[in-house]
Amino acid sequence: MMTYGVAEERPVRGGAGEALRLASVTKVYEGVSSPVTALDGVSLVLESGTFTSVMGPSGSGKSTLLQCAAGLDRPTGGQVFVGGDELPGGDEAAVTRFRRTRVGFVFQQYNLIPYLTVTQNVRLPQQLAGRRGSREERRERAAILDRLGIADLADRRPAELSGGQQQRVAIARALAARPAVLFADEPTGALDTAGGRQVLELLRESVERFGQTVVMVTHDPVAAAYADTVLFLADGSLVDRLPNPTAEEVAGRMARLDDLAARRGRRTPAPADTQAATADTQAPTAGTQAATASTQAPTYPRPMTVKGA
Ligand SMILES: Nc1ncnc2c1ncn2[C@@H]1O[C@H](COP(=O)(O)OP(=O)(O)OP(=O)(O)O)[C@@H](O)[C@H]1O
Ligand SMILES: [Mg+2]
Repeated sequence: MMTYGVAEERPVRGGAGEALRLASVTKVYEGVSSPVTALDGVSLVLESGTFTSVMGPSGSGKSTLLQCAAGLDRPTGGQVFVGGDELPGGDEAAVTRFRRTRVGFVFQQYNLIPYLTVTQNVRLPQQLAGRRGSREERRERAAILDRLGIADLADRRPAELSGGQQQRVAIARALAARPAVLFADEPTGALDTAGGRQVLELLRESVERFGQTVVMVTHDPVAAAYADTVLFLADGSLVDRLPNPTAEEVAGRMARLDDLAARRGRRTPAPADTQAATADTQAPTAGTQAATASTQAPTYPRPMTVKGA
């Protein structure tokens, strides 16, 4: 199990407070044949007003991490704090209330309601949260649509919009609820380059201008490099962190992780196979993924913080 104290090591922006904390979060899915450990004790702290990308090979637990952090899925163990308050462990209604007031989620496939207009879609979370909608909230929503360049589309329905426009509506919807954290799972995955860039600039701007906290999963190194920090997942653990990323650096580290994942995939894992997997990476004394990742990357700016490995 490892501890990965992002903000403890380097608060990306000082003084704004803590937006998200995960303490030893695990998620085990009861698979058909055997249980799958999708998250293996993930701990992290993200400061408010920061933009974090999450990368890792397919199946490494990125979506699970986002869904557990956003209260869309329940961790098997550990705790999640959003804006300093713990995600309630109780009934579904309590979690839903918590989510509606604190968390925004942007999906790859937009998830807009087809029979509602843009304005109605953007207003929906606030309505569901029981907010009647003050004049100020209306003004703020209009300002967000304006900032996102979709004000003139306010009365259209999703089917009358391009993919990039629909994703901007989805982001407007998430931002309008003023969440403590906005999560986005591959928000550019269904968009062309130009549409993707618009969405990324928008997320970046929501951090710069509104002090929004954003956590985004992506497969694209160029997209990841819009963030302040990139976190890398492998096999359900955080194994690396890259501050002030460039697309090239991100791509380099991903290539190494993919390589490791592919090599592990080709092997038939023995029960205690971590030592053997590590041997592939010329790390004679290392027995964990974390150590493996750091030996794979001799140019990393600082060593990993690994506790209890
Ligand atoms: N509902 C589920 N039931 C069983 N196993 C699951 C379930 N959801 C995810 N998993 C497993 O958990 C692991 C992590 O899945 P997850 O979707 O978080 O990966 P990911 O990093 O988002 O991958 P991708 O890049 O392909 O989207 C995988 O091994 C996956 O098969
Ligand atoms: Mg995923």
